[in-house]
Amino acid sequence: MALPGKENITTLNNGVEMPLLGLGVYDMHGAEARNAVIHAFEVGYRLIDTAALYGNEKEIGEAIKASGLPRHEMFITTKVHNGDQGFESTLKAYETSRKKLGIDQVDLYLVHWPVRGKRKDTWKALEKLYHEKQVKAIGVANYLIPFLDELETYANEEPALNQVEFSPYLFLEDLLNYCRERKIQLQSYTPLVRGQKFKDPKLLSLAHKYGKTPAQIILRWNIQLGVSTIPKTASPARLKENFDVFDFSLTNDDVQALNQFNEDYRVVDNPLDYF
Ligand SMILES: NC(=O)c1ccc[n+]([C@@H]2O[C@H](COP(=O)([O-])OP(=O)(O)OC[C@H]3O[C@@H](n4cnc5c(N)ncnc54)[C@H](OP(=O)(O)O)[C@@H]3O)[C@@H](O)[C@H]2O)c1
Repeated sequence: MALPGKENITTLNNGVEMPLLGLGVYDMHGAEARNAVIHAFEVGYRLIDTAALYGNEKEIGEAIKASGLPRHEMFITTKVHNGDQGFESTLKAYETSRKKLGIDQVDLYLVHWPVRGKRKDTWKALEKLYHEKQVKAIGVANYLIPFLDELETYANEEPALNQVEFSPYLFLEDLLNYCRERKIQLQSYTPLVRGQKFKDPKLLSLAHKYGKTPAQIILRWNIQLGVSTIPKTASPARLKENFDVFDFSLTNDDVQALNQFNEDYRVVDNPLDYF
């Protein structure tokens, strides 16, 4: 892969390279989604995180084309919708997503949510797609430790990545260590807590210290932990702001301080409620 920006690159457990920082496109539709992705590519983003559920794969595909970038310079993730989980239905859903995106091969295909009664069959379908080289890498989302332990009992392939809600206010240290030990790349969704903690004086004080914004402090914390992250914004100014995190470093003490912000604060449902 010819992805620019060394500090923004991680190598997955199957040798595939992926940017650490990308753009999440949840809740963007039509021209807004298309323009946000085109703009993101101009800013330097190369990782785009979508899902069948978001209803914008077609627009992401249009942006991929319009960007004029070589396909190998970008990394596209999408996910199988809960209603499509199961073996045959996942295979079908993959093909639908791939066609909407207008690409030959999705870089990373994820199980969107650990759906009770479907997890094994869905994973087997992802393994088939991977073995047939229809996708470059496969992974999961919302798999907290009990789901990963369960997956170990039926998986032939280790997930390359686990995308979960994760932020200084939801610091899942055990999961981070579990994934590090097994070489599963952790990726944080809702990393900015949808802005709900930007007025926290502890975070504002770090922002002031580094001359950066609260969003940049949180994103930089992810990068220094080796956690991939996919903040969402459709605003050209915030796209730039969120990508401008490679010109400074937090001290180890400040990384530790951010780890201590934990409040077990969730924006999205706790997946364990669905075990
Ligand atoms: N796998 C899953 O189950 C799952 C679940 C949730 C999310 N995700 C993924 O994770 C991505 C990100 O999560 P999210 O969209 O839930 O939340 P988020 O990235 O934490 O926050 C997005 C919100 O913060 C605002 N924002 C972004 N950058 C900002 C900045 N620099 N300053 C101030 N406000 C800013 C955005 O508004 P504007 O757009 O107006 O800038 C938007 O309202 C999603 O897009 C999706 O790809 C996955």
